[in-house]
Formats: sequence, C-alpha cells, structure tokens
Amino acid sequence: MSKYTEFAQDVLAQNDTGEWTIPAGHVYPHQWLWDSAFTAIGLAVYDPHRAAQELISLKRGQWSNGMLPHMIFSPQPGRPDDSWLWRSRRVTNLAPRNVWTSGITQPPVLADAVQRVAKALEQNERKSFLEIMVPVLLDYHQWLYRERDATQCGLVTLYHPWETGLDNTPSWQFTNSYIHTPRWLRVAHKLNLHKLLDRNRPDTESSNESERASSYNSLKLVHAARSLKKHGYNWSRVAQDPHFAIQSLSFNAILIRNNQILLELCKELNAAVPPVLAQAIDRATTALEGLWSEDFGEYFHRDVTTGNLVPISTISTLIALYSGVIPEKRVAKLVSKLHDPHQFQANYIIPTVPVGSPAFDPINYWQGPVWMNTNWLIFDGLRRLGLEREALLIRDASIHLFEESGSFEYFSPLDGSGRGIQDFSWTAALYLAFIADA
Ligand code: GLC
Repeated sequence: MSKYTEFAQDVLAQNDTGEWTIPAGHVYPHQWLWDSAFTAIGLAVYDPHRAAQELISLKRGQWSNGMLPHMIFSPQPGRPDDSWLWRSRRVTNLAPRNVWTSGITQPPVLADAVQRVAKALEQNERKSFLEIMVPVLLDYHQWLYRERDATQCGLVTLYHPWETGLDNTPSWQFTNSYIHTPRWLRVAHKLNLHKLLDRNRPDTESSNESERASSYNSLKLVHAARSLKKHGYNWSRVAQDPHFAIQSLSFNAILIRNNQILLELCKELNAAVPPVLAQAIDRATTALEGLWSEDFGEYFHRDVTTGNLVPISTISTLIALYSGVIPEKRVAKLVSKLHDPHQFQANYIIPTVPVGSPAFDPINYWQGPVWMNTNWLIFDGLRRLGLEREALLIRDASIHLFEESGSFEYFSPLDGSGRGIQDFSWTAALYLAFIADA
C-alpha cells in the first residue's frame, strides 16, 4: 500500500463514527447525503462491508414520504447541534422519530454508490444489501418526481441552494436577488453586526475567511431555510412563494443517470418499478434539452420564478456529461471547454467556475476551486461516453492533486494549494476510487 493510500484510509478512519462517516471533524460533525454516497464509493475499494453500512445508515433518516434529507444530525453530545434550524420531527410527522434531520435533500448519487458497493460485495451479501437499498431508492426517486416536479416536465425543482450541493456557486448570485433579505439582516448589515458572527464560525476557525461564504450570505441561506420550516416542508405551499426555485442542471443530470442505475438494480433484484416512476424516468430522459441554450452552446440552470435560464457558466455545465443522455454534437461542444484556457483548462483541473469568468475566485468555496467529487462525476461521465483520453486526464490530475496537497475539501486551480477544511472524507474516498482505476 502506498503512503498516500494509507493516508486516505486514515482520513476515512478518523472521520468514521462507527456506522457512518462525517465529512470532516469540527466543521462538519453530522452525516450528509451525497458525502456518504461518495465516501461509500471509496470504502467499497477496500472494505465493501463498511461501505454497505455507510449507505444502509442513510435509511434511518428517510422520511415516510420517501425524502432522503441532506443531513442527519449526530446525536453525540458535544457536537454543535444545528438541528434547531430544521426541527424536523416537531414540524412534520413525516420526519423520522429517532433522529433529527434537515428538511431538504441533496444531489441523488445514491443509486450509483449502491451499485458500486453491491458489485464489491460477495454474491450472497449483495442480494440482502440490495433488498434493503432498492426500496429506499424507489421511495426516494418517487418523492423527487411527485413533490418536486409538479408540472411533470421531467425536471425537478430545488428550493434551497444547499439542495444543489454547490451551495455557493456563482449562478445563485444572480438568483439570490430573490432570496429575500429580511429586515433584521438589512439592519444588521448596515450596522456591521453580522461581522460579530464571523468570530463564532467553526469554518473560519479552521480555514481562511476568504475561502468561505460571507456571514451575510450565509445568514440569507439560514433565513431561506427557516421559511421552508414555516411552510412545514409542504412543497406545494413553498412553490407558491419561493425564496429560491431552480431547476438545477447538475442535480437533474445526476438524477437522470441515477434513474437508469435504479432501473438496472430493480432488474437485478427482480423488483417491480412502480408505473408512475417508470413514466417519470421516461420523461426525464429528454428533459435536459429544455435547459440547453443555443446562443451560448451549453446547458444552464433554469430559474423557475422568472422562467429564464441562468446564463452563468459553472461546473454544472460539465456535470451534464454525467447524465449519459447528451446528444453527441453537444458532447463535443462541452468537451471543448475542458481544453479552453479561458474556460475549464487550468494548471490544476477542473475549476468549478471557468477561469475567464468575472465570477472566478480560485480559493472561495464553489466559486472556482477544484473539488474531487465534481472531478469524479465528470470523469465517470466521460468514461461512459468513451472519451477515455479526457477521462484519464481528469483521473490522473485528481490523483496528482491529492498526492501533492493532501485531503483538502477543495484546491486552488492556479497553484494546487489545499483550501477549506483538512482531512475531508470524500476527497480521500474518491482518491481511493481513482487509484483503484489506475
Ligand atoms: C458543504 C458543501 C456540500 C457538502 C457539505 C458537507 O456544505 O457545499 O456539498 O455536502 O459541505 O461536506
């Protein structure tokens, strides 16, 4: 085992709480949905049992309507209790009784993780693992289409930037205008009071302030989350007057791919796919075309409130490749952006915002830095498209970045320096997945 593999496994061991893994100590002491999926993909390489447990543990957070929450709070005393923001089981009887969770979801990479873990398990364990996870997935995907695609257009709508997983991506700066700023925050801003919060933030204790979202913007997001709670997480009520309503390109691209994997898993298990879900999956296969902009030659998110595309290029542009449904002529257009030094070509790839964009910031959270999970999604998409040269370029660059800089949350695309939080789980896990492929 190389010293890097050993280090990556140590990071995961250090963040292991027994049955699930925290993204990183102190700043992220709870369980996050897509973090656990990526972590399991890495664990599957050397400990498939533990990987299976990581995913099974998500079941305890599932709501009775099928939603998988983006966070399940740690019950351990001594950890910051952020569950007050959601108050899940006080607000709705849909939430599980034994754990506190958030009231929103996160990108659905779970089916992909389940399939990879299942493949790593012995034949006899595989079946019982799938028997647990496939019903979880069926309920979850049905919830997504039932509650988040009311018009049955094939694209689901997200109601909070945290649901996108790319919390602070520049596209939202153009939609944040309608994340209403409450009076108390406007006043606090004028008096510079929100700066007081800067002193109490665990994230800026562990990393530089310039690498994180501002307290002002974070408070706006907290405000938007509280309004979801006020509506009791009833999405038809939220949809009437949303603070944020986006058909996210990356979320829907991920969902489309994971729908196909779910169909494969059902086939393997001989499980019936409910007809409403089968129809929704069918509609979704071509729905991404509604996000294509002929003028710009790329896909964008759609702002549901205005009905307009949000013409800001970000890593979501390339995550579209993961969907597996992009017409060939468009694939070439997207891939050319990887080779363009004003777009996604950089010393260290892949920046989450094009280098030439006025919104590019090499070290600020989702505004330019390289993230291992977005690299992995794009690598996987390119591989399935048969674009081996590009896929390997990303794989090898990701391996190199980890070995040069460590297991950081994200990295500067200019000098490769590690940024954000150290000893970050999915960075270590996906390094192991990349190495296993090499
Ligand atoms: C940040 C990221 C989000 C991730 C979470 C836990 O909020 O934006 O994608 O799931 O941290 O790591």
